[in-house]
Amino acid sequence: MYVCLCHSVTDAHIRQLVRTEGVSSMRELREHLGVATQCGRCAKCAKDVLREAVSDARCEAACPGLMAAA
Ligand code: FES
Repeated sequence: MYVCLCHSVTDAHIRQLVRTEGVSSMRELREHLGVATQCGRCAKCAKDVLREAVSDARCEAACPGLMAAA
């Protein structure tokens, strides 16, 4: 699903960035993908996706393999 239309950013891009780069804040998300730096309409949705992705990454780190089984 597209989160930021101005920069063609999807939820998958955000999840990948969280997993590979350890991004965990909106500031970092803005720096990497430009999310919420133009019209700003995506800010709430991006924040929600980021929060969920960070939570999933922390669960995966705490219990490897558990998320894959769900
Ligand atoms: S939709 Fe993300 S900055 Fe416009």
